[in-house]
Amino acid sequence: MQIWLARSLVGRNSWMRLRQAPCEAGCGWSLATGSTRTAPEPHQGRQGDAQRPWSEIALVLHTNNTGGAPQQSQRSPTPPDSNNGLPDWDRRTAADSARPVSPRLAPSRCSEKRSRHSHRYRSIDTAVSDSTAISTISTIHTAISTIDTISTAAAVKLALQSPSAPPPSFQKLFSPVAMPSLEEQYATLKARFDAAGQGHLFTYWSSLTDSEKALLIENLKVIDVERANAIFKRTYGKPEEQHPKIDPLPADAVDSTLSASKEKLDHWRDLGLQLIADGKVAVILLAGGQGTRLGSSAPKGCYDINLPSKKSLFELQAQRILRIQEIAAAHKSKADGKEVIVPWYVMTSGPTRAATEQYFVSNNYFGLKKENVFFFNQGVLPAFTFDGKIFLENKYTPAVAPDGNGGIYAALRNEGVIADLERRGIPHVHAYCVDNCLVKVADPIFIGYCASKNADCGAKSVPKAHAHESVGVISLRNGKPGVVEYSEIPKSYAELTKPDGTLVYNAGNIANHYYTTEFLKRVEYIEAELDFHIAKKKIKHVDLASGESQSPTTPNGVKLELFIFDVFPFTQHFAVFEVARKEEFSPLKNAPGSKDDSPETSRADILNQTVRFATAAGAKVVKGEKQDQNDIPVLEISPLVTYAGEGLERLKGVTITTPYIINSEADIARLLA
Ligand code: UD1
Repeated sequence: MQIWLARSLVGRNSWMRLRQAPCEAGCGWSLATGSTRTAPEPHQGRQGDAQRPWSEIALVLHTNNTGGAPQQSQRSPTPPDSNNGLPDWDRRTAADSARPVSPRLAPSRCSEKRSRHSHRYRSIDTAVSDSTAISTISTIHTAISTIDTISTAAAVKLALQSPSAPPPSFQKLFSPVAMPSLEEQYATLKARFDAAGQGHLFTYWSSLTDSEKALLIENLKVIDVERANAIFKRTYGKPEEQHPKIDPLPADAVDSTLSASKEKLDHWRDLGLQLIADGKVAVILLAGGQGTRLGSSAPKGCYDINLPSKKSLFELQAQRILRIQEIAAAHKSKADGKEVIVPWYVMTSGPTRAATEQYFVSNNYFGLKKENVFFFNQGVLPAFTFDGKIFLENKYTPAVAPDGNGGIYAALRNEGVIADLERRGIPHVHAYCVDNCLVKVADPIFIGYCASKNADCGAKSVPKAHAHESVGVISLRNGKPGVVEYSEIPKSYAELTKPDGTLVYNAGNIANHYYTTEFLKRVEYIEAELDFHIAKKKIKHVDLASGESQSPTTPNGVKLELFIFDVFPFTQHFAVFEVARKEEFSPLKNAPGSKDDSPETSRADILNQTVRFATAAGAKVVKGEKQDQNDIPVLEISPLVTYAGEGLERLKGVTITTPYIINSEADIARLLA
């Protein structure tokens, strides 16, 4: 059997070292591990590099003898690629062959897909079943992802704890192998980029210092140049989509918590809680956006919306996960001793990754177990000239940008999330945006609703606040489910009303989705049909003729993005679930002081909800002297105490004088005393 796993092998500004282990004991196993570290930003120079910890590990496990578990492969092992120290990812693998190939996967797409995935790709060449291989990979992957500052020995130790791990003789099998030189790597990459018509990215090679050369190589390795070219070609120049035929959703396509009976709500909630209790639910957080409109360069999830507790968005969400795990555990019909876990997969991008991970580490994962929090990066796409040439941002950095929140689907696959979901046996996934402070993470009602409908994909909506609110509208696009984005809906459609005065296009998209893992896997086979969106931008670049930096004042090129809802037309059972805005949607989009969707509105929406929870439980909330009388009542209740207002019954008849924070049972006890 042969298994290779590569996780974030090479990233922007990162180096990698590889070690390979021949089996001294002659057991037939060999293992190669590698670790990477992030380079200082170019302007910081190389100083301090030596102090940076090696982080992340790439692991290549290769065995031609099973050590008892899987069957022996008839094929001889393929050595690591001599060009870059990595295996040759470029082969169609046995696992690929085992997968049903969709008839939609046209030959051209196949070759595009198979074209050099030089990183983040697993390759399996094995006689064992796909599922065995995948579970082995995921086990190791999880082992790896639980390590911060990697020591090879620690990684191997963890890998060895897995049932399908290689034999213990592995532990002494490490010896360094030489990395190919910069010039060797250059020769390989240059040939590849020349063949793709992008060889100009090496224009300044001979004038670069060694560290700049290394950066250029690392920067180019993350670009799947053939795929990027293919996307550009099929997107740019294609006639713009004529105005899509837009229709409202049929009334029977939507269920609503606003009108559903208590019995129905209880039924969905029970079902969802049971699924959570059984370990069948995971959550995915979209946190790759940069919060440009908010005016903060830190990841949005770290933002402090000025609650009395100073909790950030990440902390609120983590505590909701902790609470829902607890509620689901209590919901179990009979105790089975198993811990309830809702794994949290956090999608970051190049600009948000390091700060996000660091924030979680320094906050001790907010009380969650580290092995259940998984960071993964969305991909990048280069910025192109109108002629399809990739821009150089400076002499050793191609201009790239995150591939949009629709990059999630490829990232889930390439970064090992789907494999991890399968390893954990999780069929239901809830995905949501980082900027919604009211988000009900792993909402059991939504999950139960979608599962009861046998939906492969679901979306929550809220009634729009007004015709021109900056939210997309869930509707029919050319007869299929889709979202008409706020930037594209014609004014006349946005303002259209029904006889009762409500908007015809009223299903505001809150980017809050349900998926089956099966559907997430299926997206691979529809990707060639997804249309990327083109944004014409002013792209800073180096002029190749003069070598001067240029900051254009008019758009000079394009960036390409996919949106998360671009897959909706390909769903088989799409479910729309309307929820109450005041309970579930308060996005943080704009800078402090803005009228809408600002830190102030987020804070107010949380505090108002808390007061509703307390008064619904029978408490009386009165503004105390110590709080600003111009402010709303400042009562904060931790999500660790209540997820959606439950568990507060003891407050019946109690007067709460604000400001007051209920962080724990002790704070409730103080009120009752
Ligand atoms: C998005 C929706 C819009 C919806 C609104 C609700 C899309 C394309 N549009 O718009 O229909 O009404 O939210 O608030 O989804 N993100 C990434 N990677 C990226 C870009 C964004 O992970 O490359 C994440 C952000 O971190 C955020 C989410 O996607 O969590 C939404 O991104 P944002 O740019 O805020 O989308 P909107 O334009 O507000």
